[in-house]
Amino acid sequence: MRAAVVRSFDHAPRYEEFPAPGPAEGRLPVEMVAAGLHPRVRSGASGTHYTSDGRLPLVPGVDGVGRLPDGHLVYFVADDEAPGTMAEQALVDPRRSVPLPDGADPVTIAAAVNPAMSSWVALRRRITFRAGQSVLVLGATGNAGRAAVQIARHLGAARIVAAGRDPRRLDLLPGLGATDVVSLAGDPDQDFARLGEAAADVDVVIDYTWGAPTERAVPAVLTRRADRSAPLAWIQIGSLAGPEITLPSAWLRAADLRFMGSGQGSVTARGIVAELPSLMAEITRGTVTADAVPVPLSQVEEAWTAPVEPGRRIVLTMAAG
Ligand SMILES: NC(=O)c1ccc[n+]([C@@H]2O[C@H](COP(=O)([O-])OP(=O)(O)OC[C@H]3O[C@@H](n4cnc5c(N)ncnc54)[C@H](OP(=O)(O)O)[C@@H]3O)[C@@H](O)[C@H]2O)c1
Repeated sequence: MRAAVVRSFDHAPRYEEFPAPGPAEGRLPVEMVAAGLHPRVRSGASGTHYTSDGRLPLVPGVDGVGRLPDGHLVYFVADDEAPGTMAEQALVDPRRSVPLPDGADPVTIAAAVNPAMSSWVALRRRITFRAGQSVLVLGATGNAGRAAVQIARHLGAARIVAAGRDPRRLDLLPGLGATDVVSLAGDPDQDFARLGEAAADVDVVIDYTWGAPTERAVPAVLTRRADRSAPLAWIQIGSLAGPEITLPSAWLRAADLRFMGSGQGSVTARGIVAELPSLMAEITRGTVTADAVPVPLSQVEEAWTAPVEPGRRIVLTMAAG
């Protein structure tokens, strides 16, 4: 088969021949239709993801839409051990796949599910989120951040504070549900003072940045909180600004602050898959949107290195679509 193939961690994948996956017990073959180029896919292909075992060559791609032998389309998350989804053929574990809803567009599903499920699963599986609560989305200008704003609105959030850097992307967020928008592109002291004022009394933080923005945001919010004993669930999802923070002990004493993460591991694969039908229904309904850029698999090498407009998601497409 033809596939995107990584032979060196410092070079983009090339469109090449690669052995098709053979039959495997409990797995179904699919003809691939579409696979998203998510940040997780890039880190896997550059050997920098924490699950990377350094083995090469590899086919990248962690999820996608494929066509089963009976003709039905499924969205699935690839096995960690199996070749990736950026290929003409792949294997599907039926326990990690769900049928596409009627009318769903495979490219939109391939673009949207990975970023959207980060906040969908966090708000539905990591905490008991109630309509009327308030949310801060830290790092709201990417695909996942934008979806988090839409999902918080869908789940009935009373206030949604969206914070990020790109001014054009920030401008779009009030139309998607943000009640307050805070720019983090200027002077940090002023930006985080504004963030603290807007988000002082939120119940939940969905944190895509970590690193320096989180180190500034925590005290900015805590010191302005009217009732510091009101629970604050700080859900770590991405580390766009750095993998670590310094955590002064006082932060944990001064408020009812609960740090947690959301992702594979903190939620079971079964729990994540159970959320997919309802999420995919909302994507198909347009409640959660994606700005997909379809590119044929044969152009993977160029697509990998081309600049991507912020908030857009490249989706590699295969002949089976
Ligand atoms: N745990 C999970 O389940 C899960 C699932 C999906 C994704 N994720 C993670 O979530 C993160 C976001 O994914 P994505 O799909 O939204 O990526 P994306 O579409 O590529 O967006 C990344 C955004 O990050 C922003 N950014 C980068 N550095 C920043 C900083 N220092 N401060 C504020 N914003 C910054 C950029 O916006 P500006 O141009 O405005 O700076 C960019 O638009 C990634 O780390 C990804 O791995 C986690």
